[in-house]
Amino acid sequence: MSKFQILVGTVYGSTIELAEESQAFLIAQGHQCECLEAPELSDLDPSATLIVMTASTGMGDIPDGLMPLYCDLLDEEPDLTHQHFALVGLGDSSYDYFNGAAKRLFEVFSNLNAQPIVEPLYVDANEDPEPAEPVMRWLASWVD
Ligand SMILES: Cc1cc2nc3c(=O)[nH]c(=O)nc-3n(C[C@H](O)[C@H](O)[C@H](O)COP(=O)(O)O)c2cc1C
Repeated sequence: MSKFQILVGTVYGSTIELAEESQAFLIAQGHQCECLEAPELSDLDPSATLIVMTASTGMGDIPDGLMPLYCDLLDEEPDLTHQHFALVGLGDSSYDYFNGAAKRLFEVFSNLNAQPIVEPLYVDANEDPEPAEPVMRWLASWVD
C-alpha cells in the first residue's frame, strides 16, 4: 500500500472532479489518498507520492489554490530529495502558454530535487475533450 496526496489546482472545478476520480481509483487499488485543494508546504508528506494535478489560468498562470505553495517553494527552497511526485496538467493548446501552470510546477519541484516517478502528462482539451480518459489511462500505467 502506498500513500498519495493529490495537490489540486483548479479555477472552474473540473480538475477537482478528476482528482476525486483519481482518488477513488487509488483507494480501490488499496492505496491511501487525500486531495488537497489549497495545500501548504507543511501539508506535504515526505512519505507520500504527490500527484500535482493542475489547470492553467490567465497566461499560463497557476490557479489561486496552488499559488501559496508555489511561492513558498520558490521562497523557502526546501530540499525535496526524498519526495516522489507525478504531475498532470489540464491545459488547452488554443492558449498561448500551453499547460503553463503545470510546467512551472514541474520545474519548481524538479529544481528542489523532488523525484518524478513518471513522465508528466500534459492533457490538451483541444485534442481530448474528455480529459478523464487520458488521466485515468496515465494513472493506471504507473500505479501498482
Ligand atoms: C480564462 C482561462 C484561461 C486559461 N489559460 C490557459 C493557459 O494559459 N494555458 C493552458 O494550457 N490552458 C488554459 N486554460 C484551459 C484550462 O487549463 C482548462 O480548461 C482546464 O481544464 C480548466 O480546469 P478547471 O475547470 O479545473 O479550472 C484556460 C482556461 C480559461 C477559462
